Amino acid sequence: MTTPLGKDLLALEPLTPEQIRLILDTAEPFKEISERAIKKVPALRGSTIVNLFFEASTRTRVSFEFAEKRLSADTVNVAASGSSVSKGETLVDTARNLEAMRIDMVVIRHSASGAAQFLAERIESNVINAGDGTHEHPTQGLLDLLTLRDRFGTLEGRRICICGDVLHSRVARSNIWGLKKMGAVVGVCGPRSLLPNAIAELGVEVFDRIEAAIEWAEALNVLRLQLERMQAGYIPSLREYNRVFGVTRERLERAPRDLLILHPGPMNRGVEIDSDVADGPHSVILEQVTNGVAVRMAVLYLLAGGAPELADAAKGGSDR
Ligand code: CP
Repeated sequence: MTTPLGKDLLALEPLTPEQIRLILDTAEPFKEISERAIKKVPALRGSTIVNLFFEASTRTRVSFEFAEKRLSADTVNVAASGSSVSKGETLVDTARNLEAMRIDMVVIRHSASGAAQFLAERIESNVINAGDGTHEHPTQGLLDLLTLRDRFGTLEGRRICICGDVLHSRVARSNIWGLKKMGAVVGVCGPRSLLPNAIAELGVEVFDRIEAAIEWAEALNVLRLQLERMQAGYIPSLREYNRVFGVTRERLERAPRDLLILHPGPMNRGVEIDSDVADGPHSVILEQVTNGVAVRMAVLYLLAGGAPELADAAKGGSDR
């Protein structure tokens, strides 16, 4: 089936601004479903979706599962431990066996960059990338865009700085592609050891000092310092990182304007972000999580062939 997004959602890099806008606009009417007493509409009744999570996740896995259930899809969760992957079965064999049971979509998180595309090229079901290695995390990028658009009205010309461990971050890559396509001006800030060498070639401003980034930006998207990779000596110590690059209340108080604060989670409180910022009045971190369900409902709905102009009507068909 041809959909406005094609067969799969693998990354934001190949999407057009119109496709991104379509997803965000489709998410809008779906937000209200999660506020109802009975959070369910029949839009995906009869569809079967497999969530293949081969890497740890709280937000993305639960958010996809809620999105699927709220659209009335049948869902099955598969993790690497406890499945035949732990006995050496390949990713493609796992997916083909699931397809033999007549599934419609696969949501996949995997530690290997390119795993979602590899799978999408080999199975007929729609594939949604829920984060692949250090490549992309497109639905996180989309929920960040929706949260910023909610607050700013438009992303056109807005200055958004992505702070921290950009080198290892799939969230950073999806944000850079998505924000630029929506007309935002994008900055990155972090120690040079945690910024990719050719980062400026992506058309972003590069800040070596967090104070300069805070002075420039209207919103900061603060990335998790990927502690599991820090043995490789990217930074001298966590305390030093917080002292030089931490997003702290004291630093934000010196800013010429109030900044929106985003973080994709999970957070290292007291490392890349202090608790009084994460829980402070300008934090939209939990709004991001709430918006994640609506964005994933929109992606599932559009890939299942749902008509964008009928999204509002689809939400009207409650199971009450
Ligand atoms: N933001 C995000 O991907 O969080 P999880 O790893 O908990 O899914």
